[in-house]
Amino acid sequence: MSDQVSYDTLIPNNVNLSSDRRLLRALEQWRPKFLDWWTHSGPTDFQQAQVYLRTAVGVEKGNWAKFGFVRMPEYRWGILLAPAEQGRTIPFGEHKGEPAWQEVPGEYRNLLRRLIVIQGDTEPASVEQQRFLGHTAPSLYDMRNLFQVNVEEGRHLWAMAYLLHRYFGRDGREEADMLLQRTSGDEDRPRILGAFNEETPDWLSFFLFTSFTDRDGKMQLESLAQSGFDPLSRSCRFMITEEGHHMFVGKSGVERIIDRTCRVMQAHGISDPGDISRLRELGVIDLPLLQRKMNFHFSVTLDLFGSELSTNAATAFNAGIKGRFRESDIDDDHQLLNDTYPVLTLQDGVFSEQQMPAMNAINARLVDDYISDCRGIVESWNRVIRSHGIEFELRLPHRAFNRKQGMYASAHVSPAGVVLSENAWQQQQHEFLAAPADNEYVLSLMTPVDKTGAYAGWISPPKNGVGGQPGGFEYVRIAA
Ligand SMILES: [Fe+2]
Ligand SMILES: [Fe+2]
Repeated sequence: MSDQVSYDTLIPNNVNLSSDRRLLRALEQWRPKFLDWWTHSGPTDFQQAQVYLRTAVGVEKGNWAKFGFVRMPEYRWGILLAPAEQGRTIPFGEHKGEPAWQEVPGEYRNLLRRLIVIQGDTEPASVEQQRFLGHTAPSLYDMRNLFQVNVEEGRHLWAMAYLLHRYFGRDGREEADMLLQRTSGDEDRPRILGAFNEETPDWLSFFLFTSFTDRDGKMQLESLAQSGFDPLSRSCRFMITEEGHHMFVGKSGVERIIDRTCRVMQAHGISDPGDISRLRELGVIDLPLLQRKMNFHFSVTLDLFGSELSTNAATAFNAGIKGRFRESDIDDDHQLLNDTYPVLTLQDGVFSEQQMPAMNAINARLVDDYISDCRGIVESWNRVIRSHGIEFELRLPHRAFNRKQGMYASAHVSPAGVVLSENAWQQQQHEFLAAPADNEYVLSLMTPVDKTGAYAGWISPPKNGVGGQPGGFEYVRIAA
């Protein structure tokens, strides 16, 4: 199989599609359905705009993408797998050391299909959640970044649809169709996972979503990249390459919001970050509001990891289907038959760490890895606050805060980790999570800025542009 990406075919790919007529025909039939979904559920209105986008043109490290102006419906969504590793073996579980599977092992067919469908479902969901944001972009640079994330989530959908078509026969094709039929937030046919049915109504939500929820995406992709099913591993490895930009958009977006707020505070001699009325008069996002919004996105994203203690996750690990974060860097036997892992449990209102069978605690461990990744970004945001000499510290909420899934779902826990009565929770929740007035305020800031090089008053310009261009470049030619 060649790693060369062929772009002279309708569907760009490096999986030698033209050699498999049936598969090619099936995907060529899926393509108009995808484009129909993109037109109806993708970004509203900007479909004719010329957008300065990167397109993957190879899968080797380094120069894998090229930048240029494209109308989004004409984007070259391709099927790209990371290069095959010669002699790759299954890295964990009961089949550890056996040659990686190039075809689906019959005994794990349903399990694999389910995991691919769940991953695939999140990709179009986030595009749907973000579809109205083009109308309120704080700059052309930000609008371009939004659309870049959107087209790449579309490509991730292609990646999963390919696996379903290629390896799962008729039911795979049906699942690939269903990925285009469920809709984020729809009452009858919602997306599979809760966080992907929430709204992303404003750009603060978008930046927090890409900071926290795309970062969950990275953790899931890293775990699937370990898979003994080699086509899934190679698909996910290349998706991770693209995911980096999505998280950058989120992290740097929040950084720029913080920078702007701090500069306005300094310019007006405001030292109290809680002086909400003055800060809101000045049209910036106060840091306590950012904290409340962050509490929401972080806790909703933790729910995506599934139950901390999970027999499904244990089965997938033991089978060699889904590994741990950076499995190969972990110093153990990668089989976990007798190992334990410390898990924070909550019993009778008291948290305590307990040793659990490691295989059942795979999800708990992934949450730990995710939280330490998140600590890093929150620390970098706090550095911006400190650099302006302002006394305020953003904090990740406790892992049990505001949970609807997993072992803390039935409890009420404050961001600081205090177990509360139902009553106390009801009274305090608007200190923890944005109140309707907060959300209205954020929405009131969402007026579009589409003049080249201009930025909305609630966000600082980026330090650098993107794709070799300056920040003041005309990244989107709207009247194309
Ligand atoms: Fe994605
Ligand atoms: Fe993403």
